Amino acid sequence: MTSKDESWQAVDALLEGTVVGEDAVQDAVLHASKEAGLPEIQVSAAQGKLLMLLARLRGASTILEIGTLGGYSAIWLARSGGRVTTLEADPKHATVARANVERAGLTSLVDVKLGPALDTLPTLAGPFDMVFIDADKPTTSRYFDWAVKLTKPGALIVVDNVVRHGAILDEKADANARAMRTFIEGLATDRRVSATVIQTVGTKGWDGFALAVRI
Ligand code: SAH
Ligand code: DHB
Ligand code: MG
Repeated sequence: MTSKDESWQAVDALLEGTVVGEDAVQDAVLHASKEAGLPEIQVSAAQGKLLMLLARLRGASTILEIGTLGGYSAIWLARSGGRVTTLEADPKHATVARANVERAGLTSLVDVKLGPALDTLPTLAGPFDMVFIDADKPTTSRYFDWAVKLTKPGALIVVDNVVRHGAILDEKADANARAMRTFIEGLATDRRVSATVIQTVGTKGWDGFALAVRI
């Protein structure tokens, strides 16, 4: 780990103790997820709160998430007051997420749907006001097409992990990074949305979010 990473983490720790706020519920959620052996790849607290604020800003009453893990980001999204439908392929992750959602007192707002997202997506009615894509990275462009299909103009689509420590610049990068490069290039010519990518640093290292508004 470089000293740069350490500074990014130290700043995130400061933000968590100040503007993001102490969060006993999400601390318990992360503890339960870790105890269950889930990978610690959820969004950071500052990023989670950003998702909640974006959902509020959009006035989202229906939110779709692809990739639940232990429900950490779904809980942040549901804190906006919108109803969250979240898709998860791994039965263990879905079980942990449901327990975490209950722990957060948000069972009435979060519906965890078990199964590969490409199987579940065709069964969803929509329209959704906001979509957060954060599942298996090589399928991102297909998930984005579904997000466009399940939303109306004005909806917000957010995609996690689009920068991958800069690996998107490397022709010989892993399949995840190459998929994100292809996704970003596709966004550039996608007339269904107006989009940008914002690079981020913090506890999750160097990565980025794509933000796209349906037009
Ligand atoms: N959004 C979560 C993190 C998600 S990690 C958070 O920030 O809290 C990615 C998740 O996508 C994992 O739980 C993984 O099991 C799930 N996943 C992988 N492939 C999937 C698929 N085909 N369909 C649905 N979920 C999938
Ligand atoms: C990783 C990070 C993520 O935020 C994610 O959604 C999937 C994987 C990772 O660091 O491997
Ligand atoms: Mg992610």
